[in-house]
Amino acid sequence: MRWLAFPKMALGLTLATLAALVLVGINEAGYRQSTQALTEVGEAQRVRLVLNMLLQNIIDAETGQRGYLLTGEARYREPYDVAVKQVDGQLAALQVLYAGKPVETARLTQLSKHVSRKLAEMDMSVRLRRDGNDDAWKFVITTDVGREEMEAIRQQAGELISISNEALMLGQVQIAKSLRFARIGIGLVALAGLLAFYLYLRQAHVLRSAGERQQEALQRERNALEDEVRERTATLAELATHLQQVRESERGFLARELHDELGSLLTAAKLDVARLKSRLIDSPDAIQRLQHLNELLNSGIALKRRIIEDLRPSSLANLGLIASLEILGREFAERSGTEIEMVLEPVALNEADQLTIYRMVQESLTNISKYAQATEASIVMKNYGNHVIVEVADNGKGFDARSTRPSSHGLAGMRHRVEAAKGKLTISSAPGQGTRLSAMLPASPPRSSKAA
Ligand SMILES: Nc1ncnc2c1ncn2[C@@H]1O[C@H](COP(=O)(O)OP(=O)(O)O)[C@@H](O)[C@H]1O
Ligand SMILES: [Mg+2]
Repeated sequence: MRWLAFPKMALGLTLATLAALVLVGINEAGYRQSTQALTEVGEAQRVRLVLNMLLQNIIDAETGQRGYLLTGEARYREPYDVAVKQVDGQLAALQVLYAGKPVETARLTQLSKHVSRKLAEMDMSVRLRRDGNDDAWKFVITTDVGREEMEAIRQQAGELISISNEALMLGQVQIAKSLRFARIGIGLVALAGLLAFYLYLRQAHVLRSAGERQQEALQRERNALEDEVRERTATLAELATHLQQVRESERGFLARELHDELGSLLTAAKLDVARLKSRLIDSPDAIQRLQHLNELLNSGIALKRRIIEDLRPSSLANLGLIASLEILGREFAERSGTEIEMVLEPVALNEADQLTIYRMVQESLTNISKYAQATEASIVMKNYGNHVIVEVADNGKGFDARSTRPSSHGLAGMRHRVEAAKGKLTISSAPGQGTRLSAMLPASPPRSSKAA
């Protein structure tokens, strides 16, 4: 899809560049042609103007000459003199204008010849009149030389003017052609430009929608992955809860077995020892041994009680949460030599949540005695009505709560238990700063009316 898009994009760009180049070309060619034509038109106009002026001057000279011949008054000669003076300049100007044009130059030579003759004829008659040679100038007038020359001048000038007119028309046609060419060219190029722009827009649209589709696909994939992760996490959490429950019930089963079976065995053994003791009054050695056996049995019973208590805190059911925590704390202080402070308020929690709190405090105290090297510790349980907060803190060496080993399961299990009870566990610790574990649990009134 993408690899197809680029050639199309390039096509649009090439088309646009070509259109721009053609536009510049057309404009430039039109400009040159028009300028050329304009120059030619200008020259033709100038030629026409000079020719007309020349004709006018000769006519003026002739009119002046006639007036002077008829009246002999100097004021009639004046326009004649002025006109004659200008003729040479005009012929020279025409020479320059016709440079490089052989046909026109040949005609101009003809014209110049006739003009010279005409001027010579007029000059002669004027001079004769001035000298009072009346017959002579009248004779000159009656010959047809002047009229014929004038006729030739008119004809030559007329032809030169019509050549100029032709050039003028050609120039105009050329300009019109250039304009038409530019008009059509610019129109076509504008269309091509529009087409290129359209191609570009369409391609951009195609690219954008392809991008969007890809984005959507990615988003879908991400959502699916997130769903899967969520599902797996939920399954794992369920499994962990289940395992914890199984563990608790196994512990309960073991505790019951130990209590019922081992308990009755040990009690029966103690009764037998008592009975034997009453029968062996005469043998102090045997009594001493029985005494020792009795002590061993007592230690066995005490050990059994401790194990049962550890397996399943009977104190929880018998004495309630506060008393059980107090026992834990006291045993911890005796065992580790750490001072402990306890502030425990009665709270409303069901049996499962009480066990959660109990296990959390138990694991925290174990961690303190294992790692913290603390001199002081505290257990605080507060009742906030709709929730309960339990905190276990120590002033020990602390740890970096973000980098615990993956093989440590104590804190993770604690968090899981608290979260399974819809609560939240916060661990605050830093090296050298002690450790504070805080569990917040929603209040869950116990099924029996007895509060902890
Ligand atoms: N109160 C504490 N003081 C100092 N370090 C602690 C404390 N509690 C936990 N730790 C540190 O956190 C780690 C994880 O504890 P935990 O999850 O209970 O696992 P485990 O007890 O199996 O090592 C411990 O190895 C210890 O380094
Ligand atoms: Mg631990």
